Amino acid sequence: MAAAYLDARLKGKDFLTLADFSTEEIRLFLDAAHELKKELKAGIPHPVLKGKTLGMIFHKPSTRTRVSFEVGMYQLGGYPLFLSAQELQLRRGESVGDTARTLSRYLDGIMIRTFAQEDLEELAAYASIPVINGLTDLVHPTQALADIMTVEEHKGKLHGLKLAFIGDGNNVAHSLLHICAKVGMKMVIACPAGYEPDPRVMAEAQADAAKTGASLEVIEDPAAAVKEADVVYTDLWASMGQEGEQEARRRVFSRYQVNSALLRNAAPDVIVLHCLPAHRGEEITDEVMDGPHSVVFEEAENRLHMHKAIMALVMQ
Ligand code: CP
Ligand code: NVA
Repeated sequence: MAAAYLDARLKGKDFLTLADFSTEEIRLFLDAAHELKKELKAGIPHPVLKGKTLGMIFHKPSTRTRVSFEVGMYQLGGYPLFLSAQELQLRRGESVGDTARTLSRYLDGIMIRTFAQEDLEELAAYASIPVINGLTDLVHPTQALADIMTVEEHKGKLHGLKLAFIGDGNNVAHSLLHICAKVGMKMVIACPAGYEPDPRVMAEAQADAAKTGASLEVIEDPAAAVKEADVVYTDLWASMGQEGEQEARRRVFSRYQVNSALLRNAAPDVIVLHCLPAHRGEEITDEVMDGPHSVVFEEAENRLHMHKAIMALVMQ
């Protein structure tokens, strides 16, 4: 008998951005991830993708995403194939479309980490198998789902909670906006002028927020953003691809550090999340990263359980 969490509604779907999923579908991913985590901890095998293969294309470095998808596919009974973009014919000019059509003949799913969202969309348009976004410059949807799973584990609920995001209005912030809107959370982003989230993402999230009772706000003052927050989140000041801006960003963002003084404005039982990798001493201090409010390594662990849920649901 198929596992109860293997709801067929998501079968065959691409996973490109959380904007494409309904609140009910987000729930399916969360429920499956919680179940798969329980089963793994209990030593119950779940080879639900036995005999299937996932190709993983990386145009950018990765520790967590690569290892958790690779190990996750193995735990689901399938075979993961790491494909460095540097070693594919893509690097020598083979088109994204021809690559997608070829890979679709061998594989059951593709996970890709790349730069432009449009490249991901092109791959998905030509592929006849599900394509999963492992991070683009625009969004990081697998991350935000694992983050919200972590919040749910700690708080026992999602609706009505306040998440403060301190830093750049980047890909991680974008996916958090999408998901907070879908699950009815309050999200406040504190960022310097000029580093606000993309207006199109904001508009997509606002449309959902109007339906779920979520509220989304962008301000400049980190202390005001953190006020009574249940969750405080931060990410690198300079994302992959922005290495040239690192010095300039260090100056612009110096006020946007998650440290003990800032956390004192938050709810007493606040949890601190960071997608990692962290630049300790920049966007987050050692004291907070290693302190009692930090759940960053559980969050990293939950990438494994959530990625398994995503693969199981779309590649079943
Ligand atoms: N958070 C995250 O995606 O980490 P990696 O870049 O190590 O995959
Ligand atoms: N915003 C970061 C996230 C890394 C997981 C980046 O894109 O580099």
